[in-house]
Amino acid sequence: MHSSYQYDVLIIGSGAAGLAAALNIDPNASVAVLSKGPLASGSTPWAQGGIAAVLDAADDVESHISDTLQAGANLCHEDVVRKIVLKGRDSIDWLCEQGVDFTRDKSTATQDYHLTKEGGHSHRRVVHADDATGQAISSVLCERANNAANIDVFEHRVAIDLITHKKLFLPGNRCVGAYVLNRQNSHVELFSARFVVIATGGASKAYLYTSNPDGASGDGIAMAWRAGCRAANMEFNQFHPTCLYHPQAKSFLITEAVRGEGGRLLLPNGERFMHRFDARGELAPRDIVARAIDHEMKRLGADCLYLDISHKDADFVRSHFPTIHDACLKFGIDITKDPIPIVPAAHYTCGGIMVDKHGRTDVNQLYAIGEASFTGLHGANRMASNSLLECIVYGHDSARDINEQLSSIPQPPSAPQWDESQVTDSDEDVVLSHNWDELRRFMWDYVGIVRTDKRLQRAKHRVDLLHQEILDYYSNYSVSNDLLELRNLVTVADLIICSAIQRRESRGLHYTLDYLDTDAEPKDTILTPTNYSTRDW
Ligand code: FAD
Ligand code: SIN
Repeated sequence: MHSSYQYDVLIIGSGAAGLAAALNIDPNASVAVLSKGPLASGSTPWAQGGIAAVLDAADDVESHISDTLQAGANLCHEDVVRKIVLKGRDSIDWLCEQGVDFTRDKSTATQDYHLTKEGGHSHRRVVHADDATGQAISSVLCERANNAANIDVFEHRVAIDLITHKKLFLPGNRCVGAYVLNRQNSHVELFSARFVVIATGGASKAYLYTSNPDGASGDGIAMAWRAGCRAANMEFNQFHPTCLYHPQAKSFLITEAVRGEGGRLLLPNGERFMHRFDARGELAPRDIVARAIDHEMKRLGADCLYLDISHKDADFVRSHFPTIHDACLKFGIDITKDPIPIVPAAHYTCGGIMVDKHGRTDVNQLYAIGEASFTGLHGANRMASNSLLECIVYGHDSARDINEQLSSIPQPPSAPQWDESQVTDSDEDVVLSHNWDELRRFMWDYVGIVRTDKRLQRAKHRVDLLHQEILDYYSNYSVSNDLLELRNLVTVADLIICSAIQRRESRGLHYTLDYLDTDAEPKDTILTPTNYSTRDW
């Protein structure tokens, strides 16, 4: 059975970026929002620390800009940084208008927002809802989207591939929709649209250990790449320094705000060490802290290090970090008394699909926003809490750009239904689970916090073999969510490895023992699909 849908705007992804775009599209235009799981999916509901914005009288925009540039190791695009930072206050105001209830500072007469601090920020400028900021934002935006008359929500839908003029053998370079797997009945549906927005989040599931929830498999980046879009700076996958280390804790982050409020990083013998690596100590940018932890763990042969906030008043700790307090307690760790065992884990994709200042990609009427995109904001290392800000700003800007063209872009041409006549149901899914494990392990071992040419070449050799095997599998068997995620992950892993091989210097998150120096001239790594002859590209 085939289903077809037609909308003015198709938004693939329902995190902060996708929903900010959906809610800003002209209410007279019809919008479809897809999510791989329930509407509240992706990384957004998991965000803890907050959203960066200059709101304090003692802070200023130039300082937020300069901190971002410095954390990004001189690779950020300054014009983009300025544009986004300047929209900090408007973004917070918009979120409040939608109904997000940020934590207030009860000690001030005006009860202004409580601002916390994170690595790289020279001022307190992180607006938050306790330690569950993403949950507060996601629940409000989901409710607004569910109640908007012009927005239809499609849950448990996995976009497989974009439909472009090229795929339809038509002249021009336009995106006109997507094929989408309905996970509830396993049918592939056809979504046609005048505009398509990719808001599918990042790709940190390419690594064995990650703070990200299931689903962060870089689907949008891989789909856009297959559709002919360039990808930039994919070597800069960020590792968060402090994820909970416990056999039963899957992907649980301990927010950087714990360090912002005085938390100390400790060796197993209780000694502080960060000052040996950076004068900013625990509040140095993330790449530096994660590398220092990795270095000390390897030096000592330790399974984990520790983050300790037990020297602060217990009521203060409980009231500032209720989510972390309760989660740790479930594992027998009382953070008001005990140091928290931590390890670094893959956290954020700084690179992505190349876009302009409106979120437009290389394919007409195709946009990319949020973590899936490369805007130029993050450079070689994203500063904490700048991501949610970028999601809100580009959600607005892409919607504005689409609204301006609504009357001029014609309906898309008709596209054929998905063809399943050449495939059968798989009888050896073990190939998927085996390749999934292998990919994530070699990415962790060879393309992780510390790299070398030899490790990258080993990874390239393995990713090529996996790419071929997965492509054969994809050509012969019916699609499933696991197969689609693996197909996308192997493409994104390949982009990460190829970008890392090209960068012959150490900068920000890309640290290689073969090129320890940083080049005088900062340069983005830009990969173009037409320059690659490999596999399904
Ligand atoms: P996401 O929120 O990841 O949403 C992706 C959406 O795309 C989901 O709806 C998903 O279902 C959908 N999707 C994906 N693939 C497909 C497909 N093929 N078909 C259909 N739908 C698809 N940043 C900050 O600024 N501040 C923080 O405090 C902060 N804390 C964080 C804590 C954690 C634990 C994590 C993991 C990240 C944190 N980040 C933080 C980063 C930030 O949360 C993310 O970068 C941001 O939420 C990404 O938003 P997004 O809208 O781009 O994508
Ligand atoms: C955190 O709360 O430590 C995560 C913040 C971020 O990723 O921006």
